Amino acid sequence: MQLVDAELQESRQILPGQWLQQYHAPALAAGARAGQFVHVRGDWSGLVLRRPFTINTADPVTGTISIHFREVGRGTAWLTRLRPGERIDMLGPLGQGFQVDPRSRHLLLVAGGLGIADVRLLVDEALRDGRQVVLLYGCRDASEVYPSSLLPDEVEYLVATDDGSVGHKGFVTDLVLEYEAWADQAFACGPLPMLRTLAGLVAGRKGRLGVATLGRKRGGGRPVPPGSPAARRRSFLQVAMEQNMGCAVGACLGCVIWGVDGPQRVCREGPVFAYDEIDWDATAGPGTHAQ
Ligand code: FES
Repeated sequence: MQLVDAELQESRQILPGQWLQQYHAPALAAGARAGQFVHVRGDWSGLVLRRPFTINTADPVTGTISIHFREVGRGTAWLTRLRPGERIDMLGPLGQGFQVDPRSRHLLLVAGGLGIADVRLLVDEALRDGRQVVLLYGCRDASEVYPSSLLPDEVEYLVATDDGSVGHKGFVTDLVLEYEAWADQAFACGPLPMLRTLAGLVAGRKGRLGVATLGRKRGGGRPVPPGSPAARRRSFLQVAMEQNMGCAVGACLGCVIWGVDGPQRVCREGPVFAYDEIDWDATAGPGTHAQ
């Protein structure tokens, strides 16, 4: 974790009310992993608290990171008015990122709305490591569809919209069953109902696939503690949880969600969890760490 002075290089609106900004921040770009976030404060923003933003992309070669956010209040409105060359204060990388099993060749990514920002860097990491990626994306209608031009060509990208104006008509989770036998692991971020549905699907996956799952050995033998990177690496589904944050470093308990083993701080134990670490009935949303 480092505190850096990040210089804005590029800022553009990519969807109504949604912005993509690229910053020069070599110290952050060098250490960032998919699923982690930065905590941002601008000196003249009037922001009393820092704001958390998922690291959307990171390029250690150019020393840049990007954030993708929705303009939802005074702080994010101030960010949209920044001009290239201006600087903001960034603390990061923070939180626990996604854990990919080295044996996984096929990754299924599921994103709802702005949840795309949480899995976007995982696309780059997976392709860099020679994995195949299917990205399922859900939103309300055509006006909110994440532009395919912002994704690498190698990704298989499928869209679901509530009104059917683009792609599948219905929920993005409707598309998951088609890929559950293909995927070695799945990674998701989006609204809580979407994640809850996914967790339910995954809980029944072994029963549906039957003997097909026997061909894969997930670290049989030594037990690993729940919540550890090794345990998450073995999980078929990892979810990036969205929650409002205060300190973002584990001190204020403002981001707690309920896990099966008790309270979990999204900023410290998360934001990425194995799906079976979460008590889905007790965990309430929404809120976000990405806005
Ligand atoms: S935001 Fe303070 S403990 Fe997580």
